[in-house]
Amino acid sequence: MQHQAPHKVIYDTDPGVDDAMALYYALAHPAIDVVGITTTFGNVYVEQAAENALYLTALSGHDVPVTQGVAKPWVKHAEAPPDSIHGADGLGNLLSRQDHTKTLDPRASAQFIVDMARAHPGEITLVAVGPLGNLATALKLEPALPKLVREVILMGGTVLEPGNVSPVAEANIWNDPHAADLVFTAGWRLTMVGLDVTHQVILPVKLFERVAQHHKHPATDTLLHAVKFYANFYSGLYPHVAEIHGCFGHDVLAFVALTHPELFTLETGRIRVATEGLAQGQTIMRRRNIHYPHDGWGADVPLCQACIHVDAKAARQLVEDTLMRPWL
Ligand code: BDR
Ligand code: CA
Repeated sequence: MQHQAPHKVIYDTDPGVDDAMALYYALAHPAIDVVGITTTFGNVYVEQAAENALYLTALSGHDVPVTQGVAKPWVKHAEAPPDSIHGADGLGNLLSRQDHTKTLDPRASAQFIVDMARAHPGEITLVAVGPLGNLATALKLEPALPKLVREVILMGGTVLEPGNVSPVAEANIWNDPHAADLVFTAGWRLTMVGLDVTHQVILPVKLFERVAQHHKHPATDTLLHAVKFYANFYSGLYPHVAEIHGCFGHDVLAFVALTHPELFTLETGRIRVATEGLAQGQTIMRRRNIHYPHDGWGADVPLCQACIHVDAKAARQLVEDTLMRPWL
């Protein structure tokens, strides 16, 4: 069912090529009002993530507040960003950047989330597509946050699909498993958009070529450059992606789940995150409602939803149709 007023979204992100793709989907979609962008370390260091968010919004002519957030994981040691996936600059090693004058909102990302949730109780949707330290910090600042926000949709984790940084772990959750476990057990309405569905949707480079050709705008040219770099990485890793010469859309699927939930099959259960050892970063979903004798899986662990299947063809078409809209 179509939401009447646009969803007020705070976009928590580590841009990142698919983060940039998702941002532009959100800015282009009439059912989404991006009221703020909060940034985190992940695909790049947090300073670069914040700069990329400023740059991408300035380039596309959208005036959205941007804040800088957590620079490292809650407990574990930080790892170097994955230059080979997103480029050292997070946007596929852009050859040059246009000047812009946009500056950061001085608040820390977690404080911004809390301020906005208090100012608009029950209205804010958090779409989180990076490691979850900003959300975890916001929960510490305001324990009533789960009641103040409308819902959380996050790209991260996996239920049945193998991991992408270990056999069981997805990158965003791996990057800060302690924060992620707090977020999954906080008691808000939470939908996990994990590798189970993002690995079903391969977006061809040609889609972004058509979008760039249509708009002839620096924003979509920049996205095309970044996607080409990202697609080369994925095509080198997975033969079935190379056949299409494309990439996984990961983060954009979180927004697709917001605007078009009917494209997804969901499963409800309790989700916990392994924080240590060989399974570190694994999202474990309790999928059977039987009694388990061990701690950590009781009725006090809140229920979440995980996306298990997506109509990939419809999702791909939606991404293209949305980016083709007159949003620049
Ligand atoms: C996730 O990790 C990051 O590399 C992507 O931006 C996405 O959020 C996919 O595992
Ligand atoms: Ca991301």
